[in-house]
Amino acid sequence: MYRLLFSFVLALLAMPMMASRADSTAVAATGSPCDIIPVPQQVKTGNGTYTLPDDGCDLYTKGCNTLNGYIATMPLQFRTADKKAAADVVIEVSGKKASEQDESYTMTISADKIAIEAPTETGAFYALQSLLQMTRNGTVKQLECCTIADSPRLAYRGLHFDVSRHFRPKEFLLKQLDAMALLKLNMMHLHLTDAAGWRLQIDRYPRLTEFAAWRPYKRWEDWWNGDRSYCTQDDPRAYGGFYTKDDIREIVEYARARHITVIPEIEMPGHSEEVLAAYPELSCSGEPYRNGDFCIGNEATFTFLENVLAEVIDLFPSQYIHIGGDEASKEGWKTCPRCKQRMEQEGLADVDELQSYMIHRIERYVESKGRTMVGFDEIMQGGLAPGAVVMSWRGSEPGLEAMRQGNRAIMNPNAYYYLDYTQDAPFKEPVSIGGYIPLEKAYSFEPLPDSIPADLAKNLLGVQANVWCEYITDDSHAEYMYYPRTFAVAETGWSQASQKNYPDFRRRALLLVEQLRSMGYNTFDLANEYGDRKESQQPLEHLGKGCRVIYNLPYSRQYPAAGDSALTDGVCGGWTYGDNRWQGTMRDFDVTVDLGSVQPVRYVGATFLQSVGAWVYMPRRVDIYLSEDGENFTLAGQAWCDVPDTSAEIRYKVYSTLCHTQARYVRLHAIKYPKRGAWLFTDEIVIN
Ligand code: ACM
Repeated sequence: MYRLLFSFVLALLAMPMMASRADSTAVAATGSPCDIIPVPQQVKTGNGTYTLPDDGCDLYTKGCNTLNGYIATMPLQFRTADKKAAADVVIEVSGKKASEQDESYTMTISADKIAIEAPTETGAFYALQSLLQMTRNGTVKQLECCTIADSPRLAYRGLHFDVSRHFRPKEFLLKQLDAMALLKLNMMHLHLTDAAGWRLQIDRYPRLTEFAAWRPYKRWEDWWNGDRSYCTQDDPRAYGGFYTKDDIREIVEYARARHITVIPEIEMPGHSEEVLAAYPELSCSGEPYRNGDFCIGNEATFTFLENVLAEVIDLFPSQYIHIGGDEASKEGWKTCPRCKQRMEQEGLADVDELQSYMIHRIERYVESKGRTMVGFDEIMQGGLAPGAVVMSWRGSEPGLEAMRQGNRAIMNPNAYYYLDYTQDAPFKEPVSIGGYIPLEKAYSFEPLPDSIPADLAKNLLGVQANVWCEYITDDSHAEYMYYPRTFAVAETGWSQASQKNYPDFRRRALLLVEQLRSMGYNTFDLANEYGDRKESQQPLEHLGKGCRVIYNLPYSRQYPAAGDSALTDGVCGGWTYGDNRWQGTMRDFDVTVDLGSVQPVRYVGATFLQSVGAWVYMPRRVDIYLSEDGENFTLAGQAWCDVPDTSAEIRYKVYSTLCHTQARYVRLHAIKYPKRGAWLFTDEIVIN
């Protein structure tokens, strides 16, 4: 239930803030290596402090070429010093790399100077980022004496930007590159194409930017629930945009100066409605607005994709070229004569193998240009291409399987790293696609389980967080979703698993939130985090707890929670139906609780939740029946739905009845929302 199922009108929900925890975020007067994110590998604290001169620092560098340009833009005031002995700050790059991608550095802060040594300019750059955090952009003048010896755990530390659902101006990306640098993240993944709009100038196919980059609706949900049409830029309703090749050159250069690679993603074979509206001859039907997947039987598809990739590869120096690969419906292929012919000719058993045929061909093309193909984990369906890197978004298992097959993987699990999910109590947050990923949950992800043997661990390339922007129209809202949860991904990618410590991380995150805010970023207010649903935090005592539940209709195997005992185990769900505490069904809930003996019953109730973006709806009605013998039931009460189905606000509602009778059997029948594919979730039947 992810990107394709979200289809309703949303509005930002502004509710009074009900903070349960407010933390002090006063910035310390003395900068410390123990206050930064990601936590460095080794810190030896010394005695005393170093004070940055008020009138700026004399800086001596050796072995630096590209770094000097960046240094000139830093908020720390540096003056060039010719002599090492007289300098306040010394940076020496030796060029003696211990490995291909050596990003290590040591920084020694003593009473009279700061000395940075690194084998590469990248390492020295990261030392400067540590310094920027310790000095809070140069505002904290006094630093603890110490020696930091630091290097990253994982080579790939990425952040994803969905600029298709809403085009973001170039300046937005440049600003996020600064924050990424501060966090020692090194891969910016640009999701440049999707149904909602094509965002990159391609000279050979001008309709991609003349037509497929514009839509007559601003809000994605209005467009998605409307006619999903496109328009030209001169249409008065036109909303959208694209990056020119010069824009991209500027972004790539700005990123390069910050030791960040910009990875382009061109989606295929699915999520391609906008291309097929502009060039319908590439779809199975040959008509616009009918298909979302490229026709794989048509050679013209490969000509188009290779021509587009050729321009992309020319423009982006990145070793990694992302080709999407996720969520193709494959429906059109089943009946398309050209696709069927391709399957016959190539001996392909099914549409999964047809997709795999296409992915293999594209991988050979990308490799022929000396680059490496990355794709979401669906590229494994029908057989994985030999050199492909798998971006594992549907949990870790696809990535681990790719690693077992000898491919490399980037862990991008949606349950931890999809930062478009709500980060706090839904009643106080902007409407989102659903879910609940607070900072602590994002931080808890470990990409390498113990079950992976050491010789396969090398196939773990790294980690990445994504922010899909269906419901994130404004740039400032996007920032709010990235920070501070991106800090968690940065620390997981850089620091060792053994260094993880959530309370300490949270303390440091509060400081860094303040720093980012002072730099003009719109962050979530971590100091006033509300936390998980109160009901979920302690077991609930009630008459029905521990009693047997008879399922008159079964629950879904996909969302069993604790199985047959889930509805009377005293465990209530948190903010999201996906937390294994809510039980789900695509039918009605019809269950009978056996209290074991006839007893007085005063109250029966159950909470349901609605998350329209994920097709989870309130029941239309809940009927509650009581019986002494399990055969003759009397209707004790009915509760009706009064929650509108037109808003994607996440809602919780108790359906209950009061009664004054006695019973052994309590039957609850929740009648589901009358739409195919709609879900119903509840967490506990409370009887008193
Ligand atoms: C994805 O979320 N479909 C990669």
